[in-house]
Amino acid sequence: MSILFDARDRLWLLRTPATSYVLCLDEDDAPRHVHWGPRLTLDQAKRLAELRAALADTEADPGGEELSVEGGLRYGVPSLIVRYGDATRGVEWRFLRQRIEDGHLEIVFTDRRYPLEIALHYRVREDSDAIERHVVLRHTGQGPSIEILRLDSAAWTLPPRPGYRLSHVVGEWGKEFQLQRGALACGETTLTSRAGITGHAGNPWLMVDAGEATEEHGEVWSAALAWSGSWRITAFRDLKGRAGWSGGFGHEGLTWRLASGDVLETPAFAGLYSADGFGAISRGWHDHIRKHVLPAPDRVRPVVYNAWEATEFDYDEALQLDLAARASRIGIETFVLDDAWFGTRTHDAAGLGDWWPNPDRFPKGLGPLIDEVRRLGMDFGIWVEPEAVNPDSDLYRRNPDWVLHTPGRRRTESRNQLVLNLARPDVAEWTHAWLDALVGENEISFLKWDMNRSFSEAGWPGHDDPDRLWIDHVRNVYAIIDRLRADHPGLFIEGCAGGGGRVDLGMLARVDQVWASDNTDAAERVAIQHGYGQIYPACTMGAWATDSPNSMTARTHWVRYRFHVSMAGALGVGGDLRAWSEDDLAWAAAFVEQYKRARPVVHGGAQYRLGPEATQYVSADGREVVVLTYQPSALGRTPIPLRLTGLDPAARYRDQATGDVHHGAVLLTHGVGAGLMPFDGTSEFVHLTRVD
Ligand code: DGJ
Repeated sequence: MSILFDARDRLWLLRTPATSYVLCLDEDDAPRHVHWGPRLTLDQAKRLAELRAALADTEADPGGEELSVEGGLRYGVPSLIVRYGDATRGVEWRFLRQRIEDGHLEIVFTDRRYPLEIALHYRVREDSDAIERHVVLRHTGQGPSIEILRLDSAAWTLPPRPGYRLSHVVGEWGKEFQLQRGALACGETTLTSRAGITGHAGNPWLMVDAGEATEEHGEVWSAALAWSGSWRITAFRDLKGRAGWSGGFGHEGLTWRLASGDVLETPAFAGLYSADGFGAISRGWHDHIRKHVLPAPDRVRPVVYNAWEATEFDYDEALQLDLAARASRIGIETFVLDDAWFGTRTHDAAGLGDWWPNPDRFPKGLGPLIDEVRRLGMDFGIWVEPEAVNPDSDLYRRNPDWVLHTPGRRRTESRNQLVLNLARPDVAEWTHAWLDALVGENEISFLKWDMNRSFSEAGWPGHDDPDRLWIDHVRNVYAIIDRLRADHPGLFIEGCAGGGGRVDLGMLARVDQVWASDNTDAAERVAIQHGYGQIYPACTMGAWATDSPNSMTARTHWVRYRFHVSMAGALGVGGDLRAWSEDDLAWAAAFVEQYKRARPVVHGGAQYRLGPEATQYVSADGREVVVLTYQPSALGRTPIPLRLTGLDPAARYRDQATGDVHHGAVLLTHGVGAGLMPFDGTSEFVHLTRVD
């Protein structure tokens, strides 16, 4: 049984394959954290709870609540802040009931005086160490509304350790997912997005280790939030060595109203512990996301060609047909028509919102291009940006009140566009209708859903709980995508937000892959992909090989290096194929071919980081191994052969390209090859198959 309840001690023990999580009720009915780490028996958990309770008696601030509230001598980060109709704040817990069913635990409380019901939810599974948590609030009275000033999905408490470190990613447009690892400061550290989308500046996950974890050793606690709008995670640490974090949707300053009978449910915040270092934590997340988050994890991620970098806004049908013909010759599986196919969209200042084919570019509609793409043996994909509008569009001229706005304030444009208020049911319905028609009336099998700006002047005139738009916009985006998937089962969806601005477990629960960054410079991409892969699996990471010189950085790279970097994700090609030499096109076709053979291993296997610039993937049955090594800069590097990991020392492995057979023991202790040549932008791809 994965969840045990001890009625005498009012204690719950949740078990995953390798970990345990324990909580109990204290004498005031508050839900107290007891343990999150290696497996414990029920007896061990109960004894630990007694020790923790004895310690808590000597401390003024109780701390360690499963959802920290205001009231009494609590001064830590509150997960839940409420103000009742009479201006009273805080929560006094009273336990009502609990329910255990199919790996799911629900513990329901109420405030002792006010009609606020708080349900804590936990979910564990037999094949994942992740523990998914969320909270449901309910106004159970008849009286005035309750104001919710903060509602996190969960608070997570760690055992006291001397040297806590925090790992997370920071970034900006074109430089997403830059991994940061440093001391967790005493006090509070807040990671957040106030943008209405997940954002480029950070990503809603964190890892905390005791200061001594390495890639393959040491305890790491981590959590990731399934939310694609504004969010906030506050990590804390005190002088007693206690640490933890609380996190959830929304940013500071937003308030939501709970009227009589209303329910407010948070997104899931999943936590994962491993005693085996950062590598095991990443593999744990990859596995969990593939098994329990992605909508269709086994679907083959097609090799796409996307013409955006080749054409931007400047193209016609003939040019797309030309590119399609070239793409088909290098083994592309899906041809994607990006921005600027619709309305008067020949630059970024007009037409967004007018979702019909631009009559000058596609005089006979999209049909001829789609037919030709399919005749060439490829599927057809198309770009949309459903949440935004150019003021210079028929849509905006007709419906100027459909955007987020606040009367009396300017409507600040970003990339010449405003955000449609998808929290409005009528706007959401309209959005679903045109998308449904677009996908249903054309042979479209791939949809790239982009979102290129953050919220501003986020008002909802006439609505009595206007901050709800920060939640309802995201929920309606989810609902539209879910509905499209349900009605068009073959549709493959790629999420995008000006590059990697909306990557999170909420999006990954409904899209097949995401576009990780607009920066396709292979050297930059190595660091972006290193940060991306800390949590998210390779099969979700759209990665194009593009032109040299690169359109963003003007750096030049060999075609081999550009492909090798992109082959670590869901490979695509994004350059102007008209400008590629015959030689490069031949190489491109060979790399696509090689990638297709390696794809099941890269996408479905266990990923081992052999360093920040080398990755190894091992198939579930251990029979296939793919290794990708990069050297963005050769300065000061000695060419040392790369030692592999996760192999059977007694087995032998054949190199698919050379036919050479290597002993597992030798690969594990001495490595493969002679090391990279001493040049910038060199790389190696090795695909090994077990021979006995
Ligand atoms: C931002 C995306 O990240 C790009 O790939 C491209 O689709 C542009 N938007 C189009 O406007």
